[in-house]
Amino acid sequence: MPRPTWTSCWRSASAPRRLPEHPAASAVIAAAGSGERLGAGGPKAFVPLAGRPLVEWSLEAFARAQSVGPVIIAVPAGCEDRVGDAAAAVVGGDSRSESVAAGLERVETELVAVHDAARPLVTAELIDELIEKLLDRPDAAAVIAAAPLTDTVKRAREPRPANGEFPHGGPTVAETVSRDHLWAAQTPQVFRTAALRESLDTDPPRVAVATDDAMLVEKAGGKVLIHPSPAKNLKVTTPLDLRIAELLLARERTDGPESQ
Ligand code: CTP
Ligand code: MG
Repeated sequence: MPRPTWTSCWRSASAPRRLPEHPAASAVIAAAGSGERLGAGGPKAFVPLAGRPLVEWSLEAFARAQSVGPVIIAVPAGCEDRVGDAAAAVVGGDSRSESVAAGLERVETELVAVHDAARPLVTAELIDELIEKLLDRPDAAAVIAAAPLTDTVKRAREPRPANGEFPHGGPTVAETVSRDHLWAAQTPQVFRTAALRESLDTDPPRVAVATDDAMLVEKAGGKVLIHPSPAKNLKVTTPLDLRIAELLLARERTDGPESQ
């Protein structure tokens, strides 16, 4: 299959947005990763997906969300001039959390929705529901989108090696873990901006390896609520994920968003 052609950055085609007068939240979109596991030869956020760069799908959903005002996007160095009027661009950091922290510096609203560009199937409805839920719950520091686990979950005796290659042909099951309490965390994750700032400011080594932002807020003692979200809000990590996202988006285009 020929490798798709795309410019190493991308130029946003999105029109400038009319901002709500009193937005409840800003958004920070993390789009500064290198996309190594996708293996497309450049940043994942700019890979073509159903006719437009992957990140544009998220930008469109945030533009449509009623409760979102300013959108800030963290992009790889050198791409910051390409974002156009769709969002304010900042240069991302070495880790995902550092990219989020860079975006957070520009946030002035009380709430912030953090989202990975790698989840192009996010909807404006989901974003608004999450923000509304946090506005309704003054006791909580954050609300995250998450899907209930559907696979049976095994805990192995051995940890997974970083290179994925097990020395003795594979690990051994230690136990089957009950799924009753288990959720797969997604983005968007909506935070009280002050709570997220505070947790990103503490313990740099932990921040550098965090795979989501809520875990930092949880660690600091903040209450994090789960908002059940469709598994369809999948994360594009591998070429297979990209293919699935492509099929879902293509079908939505022909049958409408309620088709799956
Ligand atoms: N991300 C980021 N800054 C980084 C690393 C990641 O903004 N330094 C963003 C990615 O662009 C992505 C999201 O965080 O939207 C989730 O990260 P992941 O899926 O791991 O993307 P990549 O880091 O690009 O992929 P890989 O780990 O395969 O290199
Ligand atoms: Mg990564």
